[in-house]
Amino acid sequence: MSELNLEHWWQPFTNVRGFRENPRLIERAEGCFLYTPDGREVLDITAGLWCANLGHSRKEVADAVHKQLMEMDFAPPFQFGSPVTFRFAEKLVEHAPAGLNRVFFTNSGSESVETAMKIAHRYQVARGKGNKTRFISRERAYHGVNIGSTSLQGIPNNRKGFPTLENIDFLPDMLDIAANAFSRGLPEKGAEKLDVLEKLIAQRGAENICAVIVEPIVGAGGMVPPPKGYLERLRSICDAQDILLIFDEVVTGYGRTGSAFAATEFGVIPDLMTTAKAINGGTVPMGGVFIKEEIQQTIFDAAPTGMPEIFHGNTYAGAPVAAAAGLAAFEIYEREGLLTRASGPIGQYWEDALHSLRDIPHIIDIRNYGLLGAITFAPNPKKYPTGVGVPVHNRCFENGLLCRPVMDNMVMSPPLTISETEIDLFIERLRLSIADVLG
Ligand SMILES: Cc1ncc(COP(=O)(O)O)c(C=O)c1O
Repeated sequence: MSELNLEHWWQPFTNVRGFRENPRLIERAEGCFLYTPDGREVLDITAGLWCANLGHSRKEVADAVHKQLMEMDFAPPFQFGSPVTFRFAEKLVEHAPAGLNRVFFTNSGSESVETAMKIAHRYQVARGKGNKTRFISRERAYHGVNIGSTSLQGIPNNRKGFPTLENIDFLPDMLDIAANAFSRGLPEKGAEKLDVLEKLIAQRGAENICAVIVEPIVGAGGMVPPPKGYLERLRSICDAQDILLIFDEVVTGYGRTGSAFAATEFGVIPDLMTTAKAINGGTVPMGGVFIKEEIQQTIFDAAPTGMPEIFHGNTYAGAPVAAAAGLAAFEIYEREGLLTRASGPIGQYWEDALHSLRDIPHIIDIRNYGLLGAITFAPNPKKYPTGVGVPVHNRCFENGLLCRPVMDNMVMSPPLTISETEIDLFIERLRLSIADVLG
């Protein structure tokens, strides 16, 4: 690979200068494994970036993409539609939480969040409540990188220094290690953190608030499940105050929690739901916003006849290739039972395996839900000012394991196909890497 020129691609969220000195290249992927150009095998415990839920390089998806490209590479989605995309939308709705039976396609999670913000506001305008322009997000949230979604970011580094919307407030972080350390599944304590929502509503006025947006389980911010009762209370406050509830299921969607969506898993149904990533197994860029029918209908009823009901959308929204990949991905999801696999024995095995690390003295918390997991290391800001996660993650990669560092946390979201043997290998390599770095 010495001939490879690393100068021209500015990679996202990457320390590019560091990368150029020590490039980590991945060239091939299969099942739960990635392979470097020199043939080293790396166990992918992140499903790529929370997206390769089917395991990597599934032949049926590749074949469907090839077939679609040969038949029709592209068709315009503005004022036209391809049958494959309608078929995929219907398939998605079959698995969607009750009532969320309209899908607006996008190309990414960021665009899904942006789209949900715009649809939510169009809905408020359509029903004569155009003053409702404020959004409420939450500390530690990751919602994407467009200006709207950047404004909702609860991770300070992702928001500060960029021009952002001013009409956003933040709920407190749900992570409370002092109260909930080593919880299995949903933690017991913390639903009272939503008292802040009631205070914010009183302060800003419900008549000015469009929507609350939350990840039902925090993903990129450090994998934090909601305390028991939290989501139910959130739904009931939003209902009582006439505020829309948006779930950002870009990470939790498509089987991650043990149900097709976290909304179904927790029995709390939002008004809009943003998704992307694993929508087609993470193969072709695509996102989808699920919308309640009555929200669409209200917007349609208010729109002038003969005009688009919303002046919004992207060239590649619902692209035939992405939809074909999606239909093939859903054949696998359904046939292999992957959308609910995390709620079965493999989810229990995952939980027990993760919590077996509890004897490591540097670990102050272990959390899990479905096929999601996180560990938190005792902070050591003198030695590791940007968190303990990065050095451990670097060592993991050398030891053949891909996890994701988030400050002092390590987060995990393996392909939903992962086997018990692969989970054992993960624990072995992680334990070794922690010992290598922290002793
Ligand atoms: C919850 C959530 N929302 C939105 C996004 C943004 O998605 P994308 O990177 O596809 O724009 C992410 C990405 O990780 C995410 O985790």
